[in-house]
Amino acid sequence: MSEDRYLTFALAKGRLANKTMELLEKIGITCEEMNDKDSRKLIFVNEERKLKFFLSKGPDVPTYVEYGAADIGVVGSDIIMEENRRAYEVLDLGYGKCRMCVCGPKSAKELLQHHEMIRVASKYPNIAKDYFYNKKHQTVDIIKLNGSVELGPIVELSDVIVDIVETGSTLKENGLEILEEICPLSARMIVNQVSMQMEPERIKKLIMDLKQHV
Ligand code: PRP
Repeated sequence: MSEDRYLTFALAKGRLANKTMELLEKIGITCEEMNDKDSRKLIFVNEERKLKFFLSKGPDVPTYVEYGAADIGVVGSDIIMEENRRAYEVLDLGYGKCRMCVCGPKSAKELLQHHEMIRVASKYPNIAKDYFYNKKHQTVDIIKLNGSVELGPIVELSDVIVDIVETGSTLKENGLEILEEICPLSARMIVNQVSMQMEPERIKKLIMDLKQHV
């Protein structure tokens, strides 16, 4: 397809987007407009390379990619698993490393071992459901929260949580610990299925170039 078409990237805003721009810079892709930290713009353009970048909430990245509003997305594998959208996952970028875990007070370990009916709070109800129902064959009550999930066991909303652990300091400071590990996580690049067919050379070159640096 013609190079006149813009290739559009959806990036999960925050640390992942910054890391991604640093990585892209290593293969000569920059976006001057994005360096203006006071800007309230949502979409940034590199006219010369015919590239567009936009920043969105992490969970929306796979949605933009599935519908073709973005050709390429960069987002954590936690969100890819939770959202379960149609897109090709093409590259593990190696940063944003953390773990999806079942956490809680030490006393909750027994509840997990004996497969008791427990309450699980999580921002990731689908991941929690898959883990408890399909892997552990344990019937649980899953409660969706939108953040600060560690509060769940502290205020006795839930027995345990399913959440991301990076350094472990949030758990430690709140008297909780990792009880079971579900899986490792990292930033991934995803590609819209039609874009991959329409622009295979441009996208495959990008992936090959990035592979040299991850
Ligand atoms: C994430 C996650 C944990 C914390 C883990 O929360 O949900 O709470 O980071 O990091 P740590 O192991 O390094 O302490 P985030 O900061 O995204 O905020 P949220 O809980 O409001 O979603």
